[in-house]
Amino acid sequence: MRTNGSPLFERYDAATDIGRRLYVHDRVTSTMDMAWALAEAGAPHGDAVMAFAQTAGRGRFGRAWLSEPGGSLMLSVILRPSLDIASRLSMIGAVAVRRAVADLAGISCTFKWPNDVFAGGRKLCGILIDGRVDTGGGAVVVMGIGLNLNMRPADYPEIAAIATSVLVESGRRAAPEEAAVAVLRALDAVHAETGAEVLGEWRGALHMLGKRVSVSRRGGALDGIAEDVAADGALLLRDDVGALHRLESGEVTLRA
Ligand code: BTN
Repeated sequence: MRTNGSPLFERYDAATDIGRRLYVHDRVTSTMDMAWALAEAGAPHGDAVMAFAQTAGRGRFGRAWLSEPGGSLMLSVILRPSLDIASRLSMIGAVAVRRAVADLAGISCTFKWPNDVFAGGRKLCGILIDGRVDTGGGAVVVMGIGLNLNMRPADYPEIAAIATSVLVESGRRAAPEEAAVAVLRALDAVHAETGAEVLGEWRGALHMLGKRVSVSRRGGALDGIAEDVAADGALLLRDDVGALHRLESGEVTLRA
């Protein structure tokens, strides 16, 4: 089996802008690599790549991303957003996955800031937003989506305590290709909605607002109350001496 070879097939969906063309691969290093190669060769907004297996999947903060061949959705989407939309892509991705999972399996998800999708108190899906500037000066973004479908995280010691899957939460199986189509259609719809609509849905499902948290980021951890989020998705954290901090990235842990 070759890694990063030609796609097994291409799938067209004339009804959508995002996901109009989906390249389906057997095995790749990372769908991020495949999507960036296409984006740099000029692929249009909305083209997407999925694979049934990844040999070097990656997550946020340079971590490895574990997925099960055939048991996970591994999807990367090329986006060429306006500056306004670029600033809320994390929210758009998370809201789209939440809607797709509700449609596929009837699961009601929450979010851990900024864009982890949770079910039953554990991580169901991670989203990686990777942005660059294209040759014309516009933004080009690859959004990577890793959604646990038919795997049983309990079989993998590294994620057993923190992850879940569609199968575990609902008893239902979903084929990766079916899940890719559902996520791409949801992404197409959410991308076209106003900032206020997306913010309202995302904010309403964030599970740590009002709670005591610790946010680790470059430069150390910051503790306080996760008071609210700004219109662009930044976290507003009130520290122990009453100062309000605006955080654009980091990793949140709930504190007792
Ligand atoms: C996270 O750390 O939560 C983000 C995980 C993103 C994983 C997906 S799987 C499809 C795409 N290819 C990768 O190598 N990473 C993303």
